[in-house]
Amino acid sequence: MTELSGKALNIEDLRQMARRRLTRALFEFIDRGSEDEVGLRHNREALERIKLRPRVLNDVSGRDPAITLFGKPQTMPIVIGPTGPAGFAWYRGETALGRAAAKAGIPFTLASTSNTPMEEIREKGGGTQWYHLYVWRDMEASLVAVERARKAGFEALVLTVDAIVPYNREFDVRNGVTFPIRITPRNFIDTLLHPRWLFGTMGRYVLAEQHLPRYVNILMPQDIPASEVRAFLTKNDTMTWDFLRRLRAMWPRTLIVKGILHPDDAIRAADCGADGVVVSNHGGIASDASLAPIDALADVVAAVGDRMTVIVDSGFRRGSDILKGLALGADAVIVGRATLYGLAAAGEAGATRALQILDSEIRRTMGVLGCRDITSITRDHVVLPHELFTRPLERGSIGHPAARPSGTAAESQLFGGVPLQRK
Ligand SMILES: Cc1cc2nc3c(=O)[nH]c(=O)nc-3n(C[C@H](O)[C@H](O)[C@H](O)COP(=O)(O)O)c2cc1C
Repeated sequence: MTELSGKALNIEDLRQMARRRLTRALFEFIDRGSEDEVGLRHNREALERIKLRPRVLNDVSGRDPAITLFGKPQTMPIVIGPTGPAGFAWYRGETALGRAAAKAGIPFTLASTSNTPMEEIREKGGGTQWYHLYVWRDMEASLVAVERARKAGFEALVLTVDAIVPYNREFDVRNGVTFPIRITPRNFIDTLLHPRWLFGTMGRYVLAEQHLPRYVNILMPQDIPASEVRAFLTKNDTMTWDFLRRLRAMWPRTLIVKGILHPDDAIRAADCGADGVVVSNHGGIASDASLAPIDALADVVAAVGDRMTVIVDSGFRRGSDILKGLALGADAVIVGRATLYGLAAAGEAGATRALQILDSEIRRTMGVLGCRDITSITRDHVVLPHELFTRPLERGSIGHPAARPSGTAAESQLFGGVPLQRK
């Protein structure tokens, strides 16, 4: 057993290690939600309220969580999602995440606000890599990154659509995590109290590159005054479905829309030619009052599950959470914080540890459910809160892939069986 695998038995252990290594300001930036953090809590509660319905005596030896996503085989139903501060959590953190994903045999998504040139991450990270796009006020400048990502060989483009207005994170303002960063006596002392991060991450940038991390994948005018950078990095709130169509025309590979919670928006994304959607509330950051993606999933799957790939995220911390998402019709699950905690705790080894933990929990839970492979996971393997005493069992669905996805609008957890009205 390596030192890390002895210390970190679950994602929460990695979270606590990250908490100790990072400054409080950076840890809270990664860990917390927005406003009153109802959304952050609710993402977890919604997953916890869903119960598994195990099946037994099925010979579950040789369990294999492999799946095929967008036509490509991968070892387990997980994708590492885009997380802006990876390069702040660890020196060249994006490359470390890319490598961890490649070693584990799953895709990694690079954030727009990353700090290492995308071409270098492609080359040094290896494996399957997707590029995530934020659209700034200057739409044309944002699109330069798309062309660059295409040339660099990213296999998918992920357009995030749920973050067009600034997040309301009051703790960030108090911590001085604003743009530009505000140095206060409190965060100055906070930094001095975390020498492993100060020297191991920031110090390495300064030594190796003579500057602190920068947004090297965003095309900004060279002579832009510091006072105007913030305005430049304001997200574009005029974006419409026309922009998605335009992106479709210029991006020849897999196109994914991230941040969908309404089935009609998923239908529109499919109509615009997207290949997949991510049912997401940005890990409880985009809005504190949005519904949990796991609660929105069945409606989206019912609307577009037969036309496009449906991925879900927000709050997934255990292998059992991931299988709940799959049982409700998702093709895969994105993790954001799970691998980011691992990265912040111990770099590539920490991110790898996070993925090992999830892999082992997935395999264990597959055994509990009586499933040898992912295609045999069905809607019958989960019970939603309102169904605990009401939903009749569908007999004989185990082992029949045709039985999934069976999440229909009528099964919507939130609406207690009332399908959404379509226009
Ligand atoms: C610190 C942090 C930074 C993030 N940055 C981005 C980003 O740049 N682009 C994006 O689309 N999503 C971003 N996300 C959202 C993640 O991609 C993902 O949707 C979310 O983290 C999933 O929830 P989880 O952290 O509970 O797994 C970020 C999330 C966190 C926690």
